[in-house]
Amino acid sequence: MQPSPTAARWFPPGAFEEQVVVVTGGGTGLGLELSRGFAALGATVVIASRSAEHHTALLDEASARGWRAEAQSLDVREEPLVRAFFDAVAAQHGRIDVLVNNAAGNFVCPAERMSANAWRAVLGIVLDGTFYCSKHAARHMRRRGSGAMLNVIATYAWTGMAGVAHSASAKAGVLAFSKSVAVEWAADGIRVNTIAPGPFTSDGAKANLWPSDAVETRIRESVPMKRFAERDEVAAQGLWLCSDACRYVTGANITIDGGLSLGGGRMWEPGERRGRPRAEQAHEPGAAGDTDPEDGGVSNR
Ligand code: COA
Repeated sequence: MQPSPTAARWFPPGAFEEQVVVVTGGGTGLGLELSRGFAALGATVVIASRSAEHHTALLDEASARGWRAEAQSLDVREEPLVRAFFDAVAAQHGRIDVLVNNAAGNFVCPAERMSANAWRAVLGIVLDGTFYCSKHAARHMRRRGSGAMLNVIATYAWTGMAGVAHSASAKAGVLAFSKSVAVEWAADGIRVNTIAPGPFTSDGAKANLWPSDAVETRIRESVPMKRFAERDEVAAQGLWLCSDACRYVTGANITIDGGLSLGGGRMWEPGERRGRPRAEQAHEPGAAGDTDPEDGGVSNR
């Protein structure tokens, strides 16, 4: 069994007690980490994903730890199935408090070589699926006058990214959708927020997005923090936005990317000045690594 979910340690025990939380794609990757966090904090977690083999990790852990968790097979692209799913969850548990739209599909493919079917597969899961699930979860949340939705996007929703035009377009759509319904549904007590992870450790990303270890290393080096996020560091922000601590927060996004999407690529080294060879500059007082200004020295950072 995995170590207990560390994302939960930043929250008071039982922070989601008595709440019913639905996580699409909740059996693997970030979805699983979010599901584990909610379950560890007392929620009844219902995961919905296409493949039954993705259900076992959470269900096995839940029975070992005494968590409340269930799983249903669902293709989020089929609106009638989505509607029936949310009706069944509400009928069984009497409430739906949190919806996490996490289900996604992605692969690297240049736009000019992408078939219409490939485009539709990703847009269908990410954008249509988020719309259908949100619409039908909202019907039940509205009845109780409260609910929190968390939509998982990516920083390339606003930067774009070569090779994943389908996913970037879908995530941009989800971002716009989230802000739109955040306003529409605010008076119903339904909050809608997003998290935008940068690269994090995930089997899915490794298999579908990073063709080699060299690419993975290059991406890691381009992150200002020089590391990928741990899944629980990403999940913690999702739990936070769904928690009561954020009850006046809607239409917001938290980016969790170690500074990657800020751009600001280093075009020069700290301390470099015009007309001075880099080696010479590196040895003058105040060059990178020299004394901290707080100690009376000079720093050019
Ligand atoms: N490169 C190019 N085209 C691809 C592709 C790839 N790696 N993977 C799928 N496609 C195309 C298929 O060829 C098909 O198009 P076509 O009919 O014109 O040939 C279309 O996408 C649909 O593929 P299919 O596998 O039938 O669709 P699906 O709905 O069952 O699954 C995905 C689509 C995206 C979910 C599937 O690729 C998948 O399971 N990916 C792994 C899970 C994942 O992406 N997780 C997110 C990790 S970040």
